[in-house]
Amino acid sequence: MGAGEPDWVPPGVDTRRANVARVYDYLLGGSHNFLADQDVGRAIVAVEPNARAIGRANRAFLGRAVRFLTAAGIRQFLDIGSGIPTEGNVHEVAQKLAPDARVVYADIDPVAIAHSKAILAVNQNATIIDSDLREPEKILADEGTRSLIDFSQPVGLLLVAVLHFVSDAEDPWRIVATLRDALAPGSYLVVCHGTDEGNPAVAHAGEKVYQRAVSAELRMRSRPEILRFFDGFELVDPGLVAIPFWRPGSPAEVPADPTSYWGALAGVARKP
Ligand SMILES: C[S@@+](CC[C@H](N)C(=O)[O-])C[C@H]1O[C@@H](n2cnc3c(N)ncnc32)[C@H](O)[C@@H]1O
Repeated sequence: MGAGEPDWVPPGVDTRRANVARVYDYLLGGSHNFLADQDVGRAIVAVEPNARAIGRANRAFLGRAVRFLTAAGIRQFLDIGSGIPTEGNVHEVAQKLAPDARVVYADIDPVAIAHSKAILAVNQNATIIDSDLREPEKILADEGTRSLIDFSQPVGLLLVAVLHFVSDAEDPWRIVATLRDALAPGSYLVVCHGTDEGNPAVAHAGEKVYQRAVSAELRMRSRPEILRFFDGFELVDPGLVAIPFWRPGSPAEVPADPTSYWGALAGVARKP
């Protein structure tokens, strides 16, 4: 924590440099972000005026997917790149429907970890581990993961708005395959991923904003590249679609202008 910073800022965090978790928090209207994050958020909105709505749609998709998985009998969730807690966190959605549901969150961001620890302190069936998606073996072996997840039973693996922060050189497909191989049949994979399919110019301008100002790469991928994450799984209906079109709760949730949601694709798949 530096001089004049709120006391929730964990030691060692450089609030002058924008960061993925806090930019997303800003776009969602949260309060755990600083000027550098807000500047990037504003630059993203300048490139994609619907960016805030896409962020909210992503959260709503996460909620619908967790409800779908819980209804399908999933009682344990591994949410990697879980973010700074906000409305509709996975344990809240799942435990409302199934109080015995267990959730392991994983993130690399110190603010996300500190806040998650604080809100989970009273919840014996949910925890957060300080872990990097790029080291999937460590996530699988982590004591926190093992304390709540039984890998002989189906798991809901959530990789929502995180894989696009892993570069091609870091081989995100190998990472997902490593996680998949640890999952029992009947497990599910939930992915939402930035895409350049609908509007390449906007997508690549967004990548440049991150390149310039954020301590992480943003890699918008094509539909075939995103579909490869589902190798070894079977997509459930309606397949890989723009976020609001994945099993909308009501007709009112379907946007009048679908092109304004071209920035990301969402899908849920089952391991046979
Ligand atoms: C855009 S937020 C998404 C949060 C949440 N999954 C959602 O969809 O609402 C991305 C999160 O992924 C985390 N993240 C980025 N790279 C990561 C990595 N290599 N390992 C773990 N978490 C990562 C960031 O810290 C951030 O909290």
